[in-house]
Amino acid sequence: MDLASRTRADFPILSQKVGLDRKVNGKRLVYLDSAATGQKPRQVISAIDEFYRHDNAPIHRSTYELAERSTNAFEGARERIAAFMNATVQTTIFTRNATEAINLVAYAWGRKNVGPGDKVLLTQMEHHSNIVPWQILCQETGATLDIVEITEDGLLDEADLDAKLTAGNVKLFAVAHISNVLGTINDVAALVEKAHAAGSVVLVDGSQAVPQLKVDFDSLDADFYVWTGHKAYGPTGIGVLHGKRETLETMGPWLGGGDMIKVVNFADSTWNDLPWKFEAGTSAVAEAVGLGAAIDYMIEIGIDNITAHERALTEHALPRLAEIPGVTVVGPPAEQRGGVISFTLDGMHPHDIGELLGREGVCVRTGHHCAQPLMRRLGVPATARASFACFNDTDDVDALVDAIHTAREVFEL
Ligand code: ALA
Repeated sequence: MDLASRTRADFPILSQKVGLDRKVNGKRLVYLDSAATGQKPRQVISAIDEFYRHDNAPIHRSTYELAERSTNAFEGARERIAAFMNATVQTTIFTRNATEAINLVAYAWGRKNVGPGDKVLLTQMEHHSNIVPWQILCQETGATLDIVEITEDGLLDEADLDAKLTAGNVKLFAVAHISNVLGTINDVAALVEKAHAAGSVVLVDGSQAVPQLKVDFDSLDADFYVWTGHKAYGPTGIGVLHGKRETLETMGPWLGGGDMIKVVNFADSTWNDLPWKFEAGTSAVAEAVGLGAAIDYMIEIGIDNITAHERALTEHALPRLAEIPGVTVVGPPAEQRGGVISFTLDGMHPHDIGELLGREGVCVRTGHHCAQPLMRRLGVPATARASFACFNDTDDVDALVDAIHTAREVFEL
């Protein structure tokens, strides 16, 4: 695969051998867990290293050269990230991760706008980060949660969505752009239009989408769009909330402290302008710089190339997995999914699959994928999941298939 041969050498972690006897006969590291956390290219690692070696200083509060460089590095990263997402700097707020971004909205918007009798509408394919903050909000405000079902193919049930929106009182609809288990790509622009027509605000969880699809925040027209850096070739500890400016302006702060204020008196305080109103305390400066470098990297290799590459890998993997006796893949066909494939294997618990694949150097995630309600809907306790990135190639997929065959032999299936 072209993109893999162009990019694999950029990821230092991939040059190691792994496995029980790695010193003598180590296995090639086959990293198929990018939906859980992405690997980092040297460009990102160097940007963080350079920042700490040359530019590290407090941001927004000192005038010496180093502090100016540090502030420029932080705000420059924000500018590039905002441009990449077709958002503005005012509507690009740094958080710790997507989970924190959703909690921010649930507190700062939800506590003000959701009350008894209101509904928060989710889908069966959400992961815990896009369930639990809304559950807490409903418990505290007297609102109720309603859930849009999925079809047998793992797609959103549009008829059920229509019925639930038509039933009324939906204050907020929260939906994943791409499911972290099923891989389903939701047509977010169409969903936003429907929800808006029913009078609902929309939050989109883009954690799986931003690393593999061109996302245009402005044209999607979502009120809130959240994502995380560590799945998008960036570091941990940094996520992003985009929101419509007029909506963010109406919201009070979530966390109080330094940086988010304009004037502080003991009696009262006033709030900083966007985006800093939502960035209390010392920010994750090096992490923002690292995320800026990750976005530069995705631009350099081409986000459309990443999309096409992961689609090609998925198209290669689905029939090969289907040929293995006892393997069941969950989710829709390749043309409706991103680079995520969850599967079960008759006669073997996913944790055993993960362990045996790991011995072959193949890294997959196993378990409930932080989506326990979806596991119940699928009627399985857990699945194994392979997920792709720009550096994966068909050899990685073939290694996965071979490792599953080996695991079946170990279990004498
Ligand atoms: N980080 C979680 C995953 O692996 C949600 O999909």
